[in-house]
This record gives sequence, structure tokens and C-alpha cells, in this order.
Amino acid sequence: MKEFNPAAYKKMVKTYQDANDPLGWFDSIYTDAEGDHKAVFWADLEPCPYLLKWLRDRIVRFFGRKAIVVGCGVGDDAEALSEAGYEVTAFDISPEAIRLCKNRYPETKVNYLVADLFAYPFDWTADFDLVYECNTIQVLPGKYRAQCRDAIISLLAPQGYLLVSCRSRLRGEQEDDIPLPLDKEEIDSFIRCGLSEESFIAYDDTQDPPVPHFFATYRNNKQP
Ligand SMILES: C[S@@+](CC[C@H](N)C(=O)[O-])C[C@H]1O[C@@H](n2cnc3c(N)ncnc32)[C@H](O)[C@@H]1O
Repeated sequence: MKEFNPAAYKKMVKTYQDANDPLGWFDSIYTDAEGDHKAVFWADLEPCPYLLKWLRDRIVRFFGRKAIVVGCGVGDDAEALSEAGYEVTAFDISPEAIRLCKNRYPETKVNYLVADLFAYPFDWTADFDLVYECNTIQVLPGKYRAQCRDAIISLLAPQGYLLVSCRSRLRGEQEDDIPLPLDKEEIDSFIRCGLSEESFIAYDDTQDPPVPHFFATYRNNKQP
């Protein structure tokens, strides 16, 4: 198993981004883990606590409702949504990530599959009562970030919920960072695209040193 080297990682990602191949490197992060989901350096190996709180706080029940997890990684958030009663589709552009999910959860009810957010199956358009995005936008550069946001929104059914979890930064700071966290203006572009913000939390996680994050929830007010 390859040891994680942050400087080498950033250099590798930049090489792909400079070659205008910003999606070409994701599978290598998962293949480097050599079959062990615990060795994927960015995996928290637990669901986002704010996702769990959001699920707990809902009055409505989720049974039979459809959720989709964008860039699902090794599957913790997808499994949490499934446990809450959603019928879950979880996809990732990395075939190895999906293989890790299927090995990790052999009895799962989640439909794990390889797909590209930028070329997803046509029948996913506006088909999901809940869309969950965690840390995908931040690993993309330049124009791909807005395209990613738009593709995420396009999955939302009328009246559906979008939950976004990501690293955050102050505007003007860390401009060349990899990954590039979202600033407030960037995450607020979900509102400018027509969604209603239902909640917004800025918080520091429990790492040492703590990493600032946003967790935001939105509703698609379009009528069916
Ligand atoms: C930083 S990881 C986050 C993984 C997971 N959501 C988590 O929080 O642990 C970003 C994920 O997005 C996936 N990804 C990037 N671009 C994608 C695309 N166009 N379509 C589907 N998945 C994509 C990557 O393969 C990777 O698994």
C-alpha cells in the first residue's frame, strides 16, 4: 500500500488539471489503497455527523423516497441514507471506489454504480427526492466547479432536498490550494441558481489542526 504524501498528491493532481484532464486521477487514489477501504486517505470512515443530524431532525419519513449520493467514495453517507429509509443510488467515477463499496457492504440495499456526474444516465434528471454532495466540487478546478454544481442541481426532483457538505475557506485565501475549499460566495451560488436555503452551518471539524467546513441544505421549490 502506498503511503500518502501530501506534496506528491498535490503535484499529481495539478499535472492532471494542467493537462485539462481533471477527472483522470480519481481512480488512482482508490487503487493505491490496494483493496482496503480504510487506506483511502480522504475517507472519514463514518457518515457526516450533520447528515445524521439532518436525518434525525426530519419529521417526515423517508421510506420509498429516492436519494442519490454524488462521488460516493467508500460509501458511509450512502449507507446512512439507506438506513434512514431512502432508496439510494450512489455513484462514483472511480470503478475501484465502487468495488470497495460493494466489498465493504456485501448485504447493502444501496445501488452502487460507476457513473460520471457530467454524463449521467438520462433518466436521473430531476428524479431524486434528496441529492447528497460531499467534497466533490472542491476537488475540481475552474469551470468544472460550476458545471458540477449545475449537474448536482439537475438531479433534484421538484420539492427535493439538496445537502452539501464541504471544506470551506475565506474569500481570497488559499486560492491555489488542492483541493480548493468553497468560499461563502461559491456555496451561495446554489441559491443564485434558484434553490432555497433551508439551513447553513459553518464549523471546524475535529482534526488537529481543525479544518473549517460548511454544511448547507437547500430545497427545490419547483412544483411537480
Ligand atoms: C474528495 S472525494 C469525496 C468522496 C466522498 N464523498 C467522501 O466524502 O469521502 C471526491 C469523490 O468524487 C468523485 N468524483 C469526482 N468527479 C466525479 C464525477 N465527475 N462523477 C462522479 N464522481 C466523481 C471522486 O472519484 C471521489 O470519490
